[in-house]
Amino acid sequence: MRLSTVGARAMGLYRFDGKMPKIHPGAYVSPRAAVIGDVEIGDGASVWEFAVIRGDMNKIRVGKNTSIQDNCTVHATFTEPTTIGNLVTAGHNSVIHACEIGDNVVVGIGAIVLNGAKVGSGSVIGAGAVVTENTLVPENSLVLGIPGKVVKEVSADMHETFTTNAELYIELGRKHKEELERSKKSK
Ligand SMILES: CC(C)(COP(=O)(O)OP(=O)(O)OC[C@H]1O[C@@H](n2cnc3c(N)ncnc32)[C@H](O)[C@@H]1OP(=O)(O)O)[C@@H](O)C(=O)NCCC(=O)NCCS
Repeated sequence: MRLSTVGARAMGLYRFDGKMPKIHPGAYVSPRAAVIGDVEIGDGASVWEFAVIRGDMNKIRVGKNTSIQDNCTVHATFTEPTTIGNLVTAGHNSVIHACEIGDNVVVGIGAIVLNGAKVGSGSVIGAGAVVTENTLVPENSLVLGIPGKVVKEVSADMHETFTTNAELYIELGRKHKEELERSKKSK
């Protein structure tokens, strides 16, 4: 096995159809995540345990400082890629499927965003909500329920809380990356 392949596996990266995920050197990908094929991940972003980002049908782009948390699934279709903006929080167990997520969005724990949906910047998709196909969520909307409905605008306080949380994840990703490097060196 070539050394470069060993390094990729140590970060949970897999080539598909001639395409290897492109991970910014400042991003952290857990070795227990699976990032496959046509995927690009920006500086300061993090991909956590057992998250799956599967770029086999179409491209998937993850912006700067975005966290893709544990067990999150990101996929696309042959006709619709998936784009996730900067400083996005994709919560634990969320599903982001063939859609567009703007900057500073929170996709809450266990929430689902379906094909063709566009979630405007600054919006919060509450825990467990389902944004149905082709829904356009205006900027700064709080969406709750199944099917997801806009219930109000995101307040300045809520925006600040979620931004602080997203920024904590940048630091947490750095620490995990350092631990990973240390453990590789000590082997
Ligand atoms: C929606 C949320 C942001 C809270 O917003 P809020 O404006 O402070 O809402 P409140 O807690 O005051 O609740 C307001 C109402 O919404 C309901 N509600 C809160 N969260 C809800 C959710 N996820 N789905 C459905 N209803 C919800 C409350 O029960 C309450 O209902 P009521 O008016 O009938 O009593 C929060 O519940 C949430 O879902 N956060 C997601 C956090 C997350 O997943 N982060 C990512 C990982 S770190």
